[in-house]
Amino acid sequence: MSDLGSLLPRLDVPPPGPRSRELARRLAAVESRNVTFVADDFPIFWAEARGANVRDADGNIYIDLSGAFGVAGVGHANDAVVARIREQAGRLLHGMGDVHPPSVKVELLERLCALAPWPDARAVLACTGSEAVEIALKTAMLATGRPGLIAFEGAYHGLTLGALATTARRHFRAPFEPLLYQGVEFLPFPTQTGGDDARSSGAVLAAVEDRLQRGTADGREVGAILVEPIQGRAGIRIPAPGFLAGLHERARAYSAVLIADEVFTGFGRTGTLFAAEAEGLVPDILCAGKALGGGLPLGVCLARREVMDAWPASAGEGLHASTFMGHPLACAAALAFLDELERRSLVDRARQLGVSLLERLRSGTEEAGVVREVRGRGFFVGIELGLPGRDPESARGLGTRVALAALRRGVIVLVDGDYEHVVELVPPLVITEEQLWHGADALCEVIHAVGRKPEERAP
Ligand SMILES: Cc1ncc(COP(=O)(O)O)c(C=O)c1O
Repeated sequence: MSDLGSLLPRLDVPPPGPRSRELARRLAAVESRNVTFVADDFPIFWAEARGANVRDADGNIYIDLSGAFGVAGVGHANDAVVARIREQAGRLLHGMGDVHPPSVKVELLERLCALAPWPDARAVLACTGSEAVEIALKTAMLATGRPGLIAFEGAYHGLTLGALATTARRHFRAPFEPLLYQGVEFLPFPTQTGGDDARSSGAVLAAVEDRLQRGTADGREVGAILVEPIQGRAGIRIPAPGFLAGLHERARAYSAVLIADEVFTGFGRTGTLFAAEAEGLVPDILCAGKALGGGLPLGVCLARREVMDAWPASAGEGLHASTFMGHPLACAAALAFLDELERRSLVDRARQLGVSLLERLRSGTEEAGVVREVRGRGFFVGIELGLPGRDPESARGLGTRVALAALRRGVIVLVDGDYEHVVELVPPLVITEEQLWHGADALCEVIHAVGRKPEERAP
């Protein structure tokens, strides 16, 4: 379908249609049961995606407000990205990342270091966001010699064992707790809308300072602070003003390394190249991933030179590598992604349209009775659901109900937060305005419908 990319939804059969159901049956027969949630009304199987459209196995067309976890920054199957991948695949499909590297890796590293927030940056490429975070943790260990870490409640830094030790949500950690590194102290993440006194920016910064002076509860000296400039999977939680700048000051004062995890927020998602910029935060290490690969798996750990130079020069066998490190297809795709971001001024576009998106969602849901807050920055927006006068846990599952109802209207959204109570909009930065407003309005209608029967739980 030639104009797939800028279409409005068109559903031929109620989703999931018969082909998706059949695929779900086949999948359940071969995949570990923990990976994909399969039910009568979930999931749909994607057959094709372009721009901000997804076409499922039954031919239904959706508007994708999820960006496929924020990856489709320049749109699904962006023409320039695909052309560059094709061209690269015809020349060099795989290289020897850390031995005889592909030449395109040099081009990408030069480009990334030029975009980094320091004049003299150094980088290590990764295949995922989790790996980028683990490289950052290793770098901080080498740079400070102090193994203790500060992370924050609500944090999501990935699910591989090293990264999981810094991810807060119990759901992900509990079965593996004995395998996890225990030198991580989780402190509250002070948000814009605040909370009790112990969660205020001042109280948390004092706690940070205390841990930097005295170490973690189990007595480890603290060498690094790991923070998402806006928490993503916790439900688009924006830090209180001045909090990140305060972290930066404390890290400086105690020669600790400040790591900004921009895997979700990086490369334009929040309307600035990096979300840290908008907060006056200059980290020592910055991790990115997701959108960077233009749709291929790629992450990067960037650091100021003095910090990265804590790694010894390679004498033949590097200390961190993996088979697919600096994969030529991913490097080529990332170069095309960065070109597109600049050529089409997509970062500015996200910033400008993001303001109107927040307004539209706020005014469209203010009478719904189940919306606690609509918040976000750029194309990184969360709608927190909740029942009036009830605790946040009472909203458990409301986000899932909204997402399912939206899917039946041809709109794909993410659901996050501890209680699956935050509906997230993370659309491709190239989404047309017509698609954006159509998707936003459909979502508001769905939220109103859920608000009329809030006590019905998601199946
Ligand atoms: C802030 C953040 N860090 C790290 C990760 C992990 O990235 P990946 O899933 O590519 O390993 C994610 C994924 O959602 C993320 O949002």
